[in-house]
Amino acid sequence: MGKDVIIACDFSSKEETLQFLDKFTGKKPYVKIGMELFYAEGPAIVREIKQRGHQIFLDLKLHDIPNTVMKAMSVLSNLDVDMCNLHAGGTVPMMEAAIKGLTRADGTRPLLIAVTQLTSTSEECMRSDLLIEKPIDQVVMHYAKCAKRAGLDGVVCSPLEAGKVHETCGNGFLTVTPGVRFADGDKGDQMRVTTPERAKEIGSDYIVVGRPITRADDPVAAYERCVREFVDTL
Ligand code: C5P
Repeated sequence: MGKDVIIACDFSSKEETLQFLDKFTGKKPYVKIGMELFYAEGPAIVREIKQRGHQIFLDLKLHDIPNTVMKAMSVLSNLDVDMCNLHAGGTVPMMEAAIKGLTRADGTRPLLIAVTQLTSTSEECMRSDLLIEKPIDQVVMHYAKCAKRAGLDGVVCSPLEAGKVHETCGNGFLTVTPGVRFADGDKGDQMRVTTPERAKEIGSDYIVVGRPITRADDPVAAYERCVREFVDTL
């Protein structure tokens, strides 16, 4: 499993998305499709992007009873996505059911990664709304261990946490990390950011980069810069 840059295609329509992807005439980037685009355009957009030769991380963050998640994952697996995700908060039985649903008759399946605590959830929120008293980093590492126990491939986390996740769950356990900005770029609404180069040093396996590429004057050049800094192969 190689390191790669995943572009967050946070667009609201097929037209906008395909217009953006048309710019990439060389290497077809790995793309992340989130709830906005998926709910707007449905499974057809996944098929179309896949047909164009892109790998796809479908970021729908499933969280429901095990049986429902198992059946939904089976549908996503048939869509031939390369990576999908769920909330570790759904507990180990839900994550095990998800793996079962994702696994195709021939034994293959997309990668499955877990969201631990959302980065928008503060320690204060965890205490007051979720009645979780432990420090957030302990909670995140515990959820990562549960995901590993359930047979998942990794977690979504901050690049700053990637080293600790690898220490806790092993180097083969994937870290997929948003919150990446160029050293000379705008942070936007992300609080704790890292450059692609630093994410590589800490050990991220995949960086998820949205606006630094999608809003760049030259998105292809910005993508290539990310790949150069993170993967070092361009
Ligand atoms: O534009 P930007 O680079 O901030 O995009 C990051 C992408 O990663 C967005 O699609 C965002 O929803 C997602 N993400 C995130 N932080 C998380 C989980 C997902 O930024 N903790």
